[in-house]
Amino acid sequence: MSHAVPERLGRHPGWPARTGGLRTAAGVVALRPVRLRDATTWSAIRIRDEAHLAPWEPSAPGSWAQRHSAAEWPARWMLLRSAARRGAALPFAITVDDRLAGQVMIGNVVREPLLSAYVGYWCDAAVTGKGVTTAAVALALDHCFDAVGLHRVEATVRPENVASLRVLAKLGFRHEGLFRRYLDVDGDWRDHLCFALTVEDVPAGGVAAALVRHGLAHTVDHEA
Ligand SMILES: CC(C)(COP(=O)(O)OP(=O)(O)OC[C@H]1O[C@@H](n2cnc3c(N)ncnc32)[C@H](O)[C@@H]1OP(=O)(O)O)[C@@H](O)C(=O)NCCC(=O)NCCS
Repeated sequence: MSHAVPERLGRHPGWPARTGGLRTAAGVVALRPVRLRDATTWSAIRIRDEAHLAPWEPSAPGSWAQRHSAAEWPARWMLLRSAARRGAALPFAITVDDRLAGQVMIGNVVREPLLSAYVGYWCDAAVTGKGVTTAAVALALDHCFDAVGLHRVEATVRPENVASLRVLAKLGFRHEGLFRRYLDVDGDWRDHLCFALTVEDVPAGGVAAALVRHGLAHTVDHEA
């Protein structure tokens, strides 16, 4: 009997993975797994960008500087790597011209029959407003719907986070509802809007190709 769930090879299809690039105003955006040697750059960006990031990220014990020192990265990286090895996550680094510029986290991966996950992301303030995150999430979505074989990817965003709402709009996410006091962010339980994209919503050729068609990113070959 036919069914809607495609068969995939391997226990954790689609990981580890690197994606091809998309050209943006900031440079060529691509995805690769986070690495242990990202510690210094990750820490420098995160500490410099506290004001840019803290209003939107889950609360945690300890000061921002403590939580984002280079010494904290190996433990975080090991947790991410272990989640990826269990097939529960795809922890991507965003690179711009091969330099670390943020993260796209595909988390809470649930396989058959749900085939669902959430996407989270942040980007270095030095390159915001240039389409970097939109391009990076597009690459991640195409990977999730293709190699990983997911059916649905969700995103939750504070209603005040206009930049993130814009990213989701450019990617074609559908608004599905409001989660009251959903996540403890920046010191309190905050309402979040829920968005989702299912494979049926993906434009012909994929999400990244649609961005290119709309002039929001460019293929690397085309620009070379
Ligand atoms: C949200 C975030 C990831 C966006 O990254 P980015 O690389 O700048 O995203 P893009 O350039 O692809 O798109 C951002 C859009 O928001 C718009 N934008 C940014 N700030 C804005 C503001 N204050 N008001 C209105 N629009 C704004 C930009 O103009 C752009 O839209 P456009 O392409 O139509 O001009 C980045 O700002 C960030 O890291 N924020 C902190 C962490 C965070 O919020 N993570 C997401 C949690 S849900």
